[in-house]
Amino acid sequence: MNTYRIAVIPGDGIGPEVVAEGLRVLRAVGGADAGFSLELEELPWGSAYYDRHGRMMPEDAIPTLRAFDSIYFGAVGRPDLPDDLTVWGLILPMRRELDLYVNLRPVRLYPGVPTPLRPEVGEPHFTFVRENTEGEYAGLGGRQGQGEHELAVQTGVFTRRGIQRVVEYAFSLAAPGSLVTSVTKSNALRHAFTLWDEVAAEVAARHPDMRFEKMHVDAVAYQLVRNPARFGVLVGSNLFGDILTDLGAGLQGSLGLAASANLCPGQRLALFEPVHGSAPDIAGQGKANPLGAVACAALMLAHLGERQAAGRIERAMEHVTRQQVFTPDLGGSCSTREVGDALLAALGSEH
Ligand code: NAI
Ligand code: MG
Repeated sequence: MNTYRIAVIPGDGIGPEVVAEGLRVLRAVGGADAGFSLELEELPWGSAYYDRHGRMMPEDAIPTLRAFDSIYFGAVGRPDLPDDLTVWGLILPMRRELDLYVNLRPVRLYPGVPTPLRPEVGEPHFTFVRENTEGEYAGLGGRQGQGEHELAVQTGVFTRRGIQRVVEYAFSLAAPGSLVTSVTKSNALRHAFTLWDEVAAEVAARHPDMRFEKMHVDAVAYQLVRNPARFGVLVGSNLFGDILTDLGAGLQGSLGLAASANLCPGQRLALFEPVHGSAPDIAGQGKANPLGAVACAALMLAHLGERQAAGRIERAMEHVTRQQVFTPDLGGSCSTREVGDALLAALGSEH
């Protein structure tokens, strides 16, 4: 029987609330019958850790994480601490130092969930591959001067290797004949994105069995709303991916439903987190939608090779959304815990 060691980092705000439900679901699908077990080890990193230690996670956090099979993460951010301190102190170093260069974000509709899209525009069902270690979020630049003369410079970093490997991964996800869209802005950002376009076209030429297109990011935003069903796999830079996948979450009906995997293809250790942040406006009220975090648990099991258990979680989610067991973000009045209860009931009653 396989045993997987999972580092659980609930983090801040609604992070611990949604992770708690994800853990209940994980415990329900693992075990002797399933043929695998999970060792869930909680790491109390985040803003409360910062209060005590002056840093978001211990100095040896990255080597500590390398000893696990997977990382299950909630969210980070607290209103009394600067966002760049919390985000740069926890989630960005994990993505970067573990070289988790793919941020994978599936977008699909769950049954029973109201989408803001009119039915005649078609259903979104696509996968977004966001570059996760360089690009606009490389962190290079500086601020200088004062008053009217104060200025800031923020530089993007785009490497041939970085573009190539992420576009290559996008093609690896696409079925023969399906469409891969490279998101660009080479008409305005004429250095970084002309390199991006060239490398993407080279990779595409190695996959003649797929359809390929490049599209400017503003046009992609428009088409995602007007004609979402046309997309299959999209690949884009860190910033473009960040923005467009929140748009994708909007199309899904709520940010609370959106899940992501941060991974390095070929490597087992990966990090799974809901797309949303710590949502301080609803934290501590039992209103957070746990389904994004639960969908992450399914992504994690699939990545570990436990596809059957992942499928069970997906089906339980569909059952619960079809019954419209919804938190307030989806127009319901259920609590986080009640959605978790409904998921466990669905898992318990399947045959
Ligand atoms: P957010 O995602 O936390 O919240 C945006 C809106 O969506 C809020 O109105 C919130 O109530 C709602 N929402 C988010 N998740 C929800 C859920 N599961 N169920 C129901 N409603 C949900 O983004 P915001 O407000 O921009 O950022 C809040 C904090 O989170 C900041 O400190 C920010 O830096 C941090 N953040 C952290 C991320 C991470 O840990 N990866 C990602 C995004 C933001
Ligand atoms: Mg984001």
